[in-house]
Order: sequence, then structure tokens, then C-alpha cells
Amino acid sequence: MSTMTLDRVKTIKTLNAIAPSGLEVFNKDQFTIDNESGNPDAIVLRSFNMHSMELGDRLKAIARAGAGVNNIPVEKCTEQGIVVFNTPGANANAVKEMVLTSLMASSRNLFAGISWTKTLKDEGDQIPKLVEAGKKQFVGKEIKGKTLGVIGLGAIGALVANDALELDMDVVGFDPFISVDTAWNLSRNVQRAMTIEQVFAESDYITVHVPLTDDTREMFNEDTFSMMKNGVHILNFSRGELVNESDMAAALESGKVGKYISDFPNENILKMKNAVAIPHLGASTKESEENCAVMAARQVKHFLETGNVKNS
Ligand code: MLT
Repeated sequence: MSTMTLDRVKTIKTLNAIAPSGLEVFNKDQFTIDNESGNPDAIVLRSFNMHSMELGDRLKAIARAGAGVNNIPVEKCTEQGIVVFNTPGANANAVKEMVLTSLMASSRNLFAGISWTKTLKDEGDQIPKLVEAGKKQFVGKEIKGKTLGVIGLGAIGALVANDALELDMDVVGFDPFISVDTAWNLSRNVQRAMTIEQVFAESDYITVHVPLTDDTREMFNEDTFSMMKNGVHILNFSRGELVNESDMAAALESGKVGKYISDFPNENILKMKNAVAIPHLGASTKESEENCAVMAARQVKHFLETGNVKNS
């Protein structure tokens, strides 16, 4: 029985370790059905896009070492009886830490301040005087006592909510998929769950943690921005397509949205001075990559050995 791991999944050792018998593991950068790797029974992948790929006729399972499955043709897999796994929660801590880092950094103008300070490198003796000007230009806001709206209260959203409470923020939330009680039970003990419109209206900062689906695509757009406070900061560590990027650029231009921090750079966003984009780093920690790889490997092993699905 063979299994294939693709692209940046650090799974080969993990798979070999947990499956010393039975499974033969190939580590590939590209998906090809060939003589060397054969026609795998399962694939474990991270960012590799499977949408235009032929699925092998032996393929029984694809496991994504990550939360989102939008790089996998889930419908086609379902039609062909191929089980698709993801690793919910395995990278939640990594994303939570990045969200809170970015929340505080954006509130204190850290990103803009760093870029600006770099421009002083050839100013010699003038640097102290110019620094005084920078000090005035980048006065920030404290997050204590401000309202954080969390859209999506699954593994990541609940952790973010929990820690934001510890930072003395007021936290409100909405989840389109799970019951509010369940979600809030995952976080400390409080607080207020509400409709998405109320979350938009009350929040000084909004962070989104939902998967990309037909219902959530472009949920941040001109209409929803109009429900929000002027100058709201929006953090997107879920998927770029949750946001209508040209509406976001217009909202940033007008100041309706004060800051946009995105893990998904695109041209519209990169040209706006009050937007910060990073290269999909939310879950990129050594610990998270390993957690996801181990969970994906276990799921595949369990499924190939027993035929049962265990999503943990
Ligand atoms: C995920 O889907 O889990 C995240 O976007 C992390 C990633 O793929 O890098």
C-alpha cells in the first residue's frame, strides 16, 4: 500500500515513524502518477493545488496538513468516493499568536514605523531630529477596553477570543456554522455573541476565521463595510477571497477601514499605505507544521488500515 506526501508537508519521517509496516511513503514535489511512486492510495499535502490534477484510480484519501481545503477538488473527490481530511485545530495556536501580534502591531503603527525608520538609514546626524518627527507621526492606540469582533468561533477564533479577553479587550463574536454556546464554551466563560451585523457595528477591530465557501466569499465588501465603525481595523488570516479587494482598497482610501492586515497580498492591497500584507505566514511555525503533518499522517494511516474516518 503506498502513500505520497507533497510539497512542504514535513510528513515523511512522521509517516514512516507511525507506519513502519504496510505503508510505503514517497515524498514528491509534484503530483504525477508514475512508475516510481506508482498510483498512491493516499496523498498528504499542504499548498499543492489539486484542482487540475488527475486523481489516480487507486486513490482513497487526500489529507490536507492545514485547515482550509480549497486547494482540493472536494466535490470531485466525494463523487469518486475519495475521503478528504483536514487538520482542524492543529495550527490554531500558531494562527492565534500571529493574529494577536498583528492586532497589537497594527494598533501601535509598528509596521509603518519600521518601514519609515528604515528610510532614515542615510540621514547621519539628522536621525535623532527626524526620529522626533516619527514619534509624532505614528502615535498609536491601546487595545485595552476596545471591542474585538471575532467572525468564526471555531478552533482559531475561540483561542483568539480567549486571549483577547486576557488582554482586557471586550470580545464579541459570530459564527455562521456552529452554535454560539458551543463556541463560547471553548473560550473562557463569556461574552456576547450576536448577529454578524451587530458584530460589524460594535467592533473597533474585526478578525475573521471562517473557511472559504460560496457563502463566505467576499463577505467583506462595500455593503458590509458600511455597517462598520469608521476607522475599523480588519485582520484576515483566513483566505484573501473573503474580501472584495477593490471594495477594500476604496474603503482604505476613504478611511472607512483604518487598517487592513492580510495574510494574502494582492495588487490592490499592496498599493494602499494603510494595508499590511504578509506571505501567508499565519500558520507557518515549526510547531504548527509538525502538528498538522502528524495529524494528517495519523488520519491517513488510520483510514487505510481500518477504513474508518478519524478527524483528530
Ligand atoms: C490553513 O489552511 O491551515 C492555513 O491557511 C495555513 C496554511 O495553509 O499555511
